[in-house]
Amino acid sequence: MNKQYIGVLIIFVIIIGAISIGFFFENSTSRGDGERVEIPFTDKNLPKYTMAQVSQHSSSDDCFIVVDENVYDITSYVSGEEHPGGQKSIISGCGNNETDRFGRIHSPKANEDLKEFLIGIVE
Ligand code: HEM
Repeated sequence: MNKQYIGVLIIFVIIIGAISIGFFFENSTSRGDGERVEIPFTDKNLPKYTMAQVSQHSSSDDCFIVVDENVYDITSYVSGEEHPGGQKSIISGCGNNETDRFGRIHSPKANEDLKEFLIGIVE
């Protein structure tokens, strides 16, 4: 009887443990409403910018955005009119932290495209 009780207890603990591990991995790989498509990349040796500095670059001919802890100068991409999501949506992000919007909307390919514009990290 006692052994049976311990057996049930062990199975219970294993199930709770498995559920907790599942939650941990789910939360570390997804963000906001959408799926997180890629683990963010960064380079700690890049120049550091404050959000106040980033927000100075908020127009279509001078456009910085922040995604995760990275700062991107996407001016050439914005003016090249090649954004599949249109000019209006991308310009609205200039000078802002676009982590949520970028992560929710874009594919792994867009994440790759973004790397080319990396200029710094947010301090
Ligand atoms: C403020 C920042 C941005 C916003 C708000 C934004 C918004 C959008 C929207 C609304 C779409 C259309 C999604 C659809 O039709 O389902 C889109 C697509 C796309 N955007 Fe952006 N975008 C931003 C920045 C960028 C940047 C910086 C890049 C690349 C360097 C980029 C690359 C793409 C690509 C490749 C697509 C096609 C769909 C995909 O492969 O994900 N976007 N974007």
